[in-house]
Amino acid sequence: MPETISFARGAPSPDLIPVEAVRHAAATALEQDWKVALSYGVGIGHPGLCEWIAERHDLPGASNVMVTNGSLEAGAMMFRHLLEAGDRVVVEQPSYDRTLLLLEQIGVEFIPVALEEDGLDVGAIERALESGPIKLVHVIPNFHNPAGCTLSEEKRRRLVDLATEHGFTIFEDDPYRELPFGEDPPPTMLSMDTTDRVIHASSFSKTVSPGVRMGYLAGPEEPIAEMAKVANENYISPNMLAGSIVLELAHSGALDRNIETVKVKLQERRDALVAALGKHLPEATFVLPGGGYFLWADLGEDADTVALAARAKEAGAPFIPGTDFMLDGGQTKLRFSFASVPAELIDEGVARIASVA
Ligand SMILES: Cc1ncc(COP(=O)(O)O)c(C=O)c1O
Repeated sequence: MPETISFARGAPSPDLIPVEAVRHAAATALEQDWKVALSYGVGIGHPGLCEWIAERHDLPGASNVMVTNGSLEAGAMMFRHLLEAGDRVVVEQPSYDRTLLLLEQIGVEFIPVALEEDGLDVGAIERALESGPIKLVHVIPNFHNPAGCTLSEEKRRRLVDLATEHGFTIFEDDPYRELPFGEDPPPTMLSMDTTDRVIHASSFSKTVSPGVRMGYLAGPEEPIAEMAKVANENYISPNMLAGSIVLELAHSGALDRNIETVKVKLQERRDALVAALGKHLPEATFVLPGGGYFLWADLGEDADTVALAARAKEAGAPFIPGTDFMLDGGQTKLRFSFASVPAELIDEGVARIASVA
């Protein structure tokens, strides 16, 4: 057994990375697309990749898309473009810790909204609108990080209608959409939007590998053009070689083949985690994730997951305590990343945590 079995990082274990396919795509990209791949580009990045992404989302064209160096950068650019200190911003509770940090740096006024089994409580947003305008709603709609839940279609439609009615922007932060274990998730809010209120972000970190650092923004032409100009002023273009490699993976079908392989392995890991929790930590309650990377467990009202995380790290099974994903509270909760642990190690990892609980 390895010394460390880590549930901490939202990253795939090495066996989920399609190294041969990437090697092959890189060789093809350098043979057939080297002039684009090895030159400066423009702010939107590789134009062929933007076109492919636009088609995948059924958008009019490449001018609705800009490629970024990962989707975290996409979010950071979008926040800096749209927000000022004091703006009221809805964040889900819990939410992705890096998003919370970025928004905190801008000095926004947080409006925390609880997550339910079918995603965020849209009624709470309606109530918050009664006490003043909202500038932005940040949503992770599918296989949430860290909560594992998925926003229902009905709530998506209500949220898009509210955005139209009240003039706020929805930031649809969606890197896990392509990783369902069963049914496909409901349509994107981007596809429901008829009034230019939704900006969508996604990434190839979970469908190819995090190291390719290829993410994107997709949405209305005007804000995309404005942000692409800022990108160009700051770094000329995102990585064109990585863009060319990802495009080759997309065109050759290797991307979709990899998504199919990864989904099967992730589902095996989720099932192994659920079985191990039943065996070693039966007090844990959770919403069963229908896809993606994460399971968010509550260990009951007496639990202190911050202290437990320190002991679990010593025991060789680190995880991130719930407090990291909350503006307030979260002491009884923890996030398991099952993407980072091969199925055959999951039982031992959970047993290690349970042995110090
Ligand atoms: C919800 C969410 N958004 C954005 C990111 C950033 O991913 P990347 O920058 O690798 O595309 C992550 C990564 O875990 C995430 O979970």
